[in-house]
Amino acid sequence: MKLAIIEGDGVGKEVISAAVEVLDALSLEIEKVLLELGYDKWERTGAAITDEDITTLKECDCVLFGAVTTPPDPNYKSVLLTIRKELDVYANIRPIKPLAGIKGATGRNDFDFVIVRENTEGMYSGIEELHDDVSYTTRVITHKGSKRIAEYACKLAKQRQNRVTIVHKSNVLKSDKLFLETCRSVADDAGITHNDMLVDSMAYSLITSPQKYDVVVTTNLFGDILSDMSAALVGSLGLAPSANIGERYAFFEPVHGSAPDIAGKGIANPIAAILCVKMMMEWRGDTKSASLVEDAVNHVIGQGIITPELGGTSSTKDVGHAVAEYIKLQQER
Ligand code: NAD
Ligand code: IPM
Ligand code: MN
Repeated sequence: MKLAIIEGDGVGKEVISAAVEVLDALSLEIEKVLLELGYDKWERTGAAITDEDITTLKECDCVLFGAVTTPPDPNYKSVLLTIRKELDVYANIRPIKPLAGIKGATGRNDFDFVIVRENTEGMYSGIEELHDDVSYTTRVITHKGSKRIAEYACKLAKQRQNRVTIVHKSNVLKSDKLFLETCRSVADDAGITHNDMLVDSMAYSLITSPQKYDVVVTTNLFGDILSDMSAALVGSLGLAPSANIGERYAFFEPVHGSAPDIAGKGIANPIAAILCVKMMMEWRGDTKSASLVEDAVNHVIGQGIITPELGGTSSTKDVGHAVAEYIKLQQER
């Protein structure tokens, strides 16, 4: 397997180093290709990502990505959105699962659901018009895009509880009627039980009754917002991984961004990035390595080796190192 590693900007550089230490501890046959992309590269060279970078990415099988900073300059083209589009990784999978011993914002740990976020269209169509007095962003919902994300969600539901919650805002956004109807029809054909929720009441329900949900399928921007919110249920943005999956490629990244407020301090939580390695292992079909990574993360948290946003005193490096060492120890047994 050929893996592109993109640290990106800010804490991306810190958490990916830790995740790579964990990946190396698994001692797998993986060819690593390091790529520098993002805002720092843009400042240095005038380009955040080049055509050559995209060619290199397409020669790899998957990508491990930290985070990038997006400056407010309207001429700056988002690296992340460019890669998602170029690799056509249409399904953004964001598992929301408690970690042993960590109590999130609501204090409960009886939930385990996955947000399946459409990753290529919706409010992220890129069709925009900016004027001084008015600006437009065209929200695009297609049958093809809705169908393939619904199929992905149903495939996942079959491995879980055979049920899907479709999240939309079709009472106001007429475009979401197409999303809702397409998802319903895919779920019916697949024999998956389904219900639907308006996104605003879903936000409330995820806080008050997160245990009710299993697979949650939604459009791009709603999935973006609900996934940051749901990371608070787990306990930190630094604990939430994600996988962007397409037919050919997969692209793994923490849900969080470059966190400029803590960048350079060595205190970013690397667990989201480390759990991206777990998701990569699952994608490869290597369930043994995936479980090993998850067990190691839970073990290290259980030892109290946690970063300051969770109330600990450990550094990014301490956590990454402890997870990697535990994996090595298990492999020697
Ligand atoms: P952010 O996710 O970077 O940070 C939000 C809050 O969460 C901050 O208080 C931060 O300190 C904290 N946080 C984030 N990651 C953490 C970690 N690993 N450990 C501990 N705490 C962590 O969101 P933001 O501040 O709104 O955005 C900063 C920049 O990141 C922006 O330029 C934005 O566009 C970009 N961004 C990039 C990605 C990505 O590359 N995948 C995702 C989101 C935001
Ligand atoms: C995410 C991020 C990105 C998104 C931004 C940085 C383009 O917030 O991965 O959740 O909105 O998808
Ligand atoms: Mn986001």
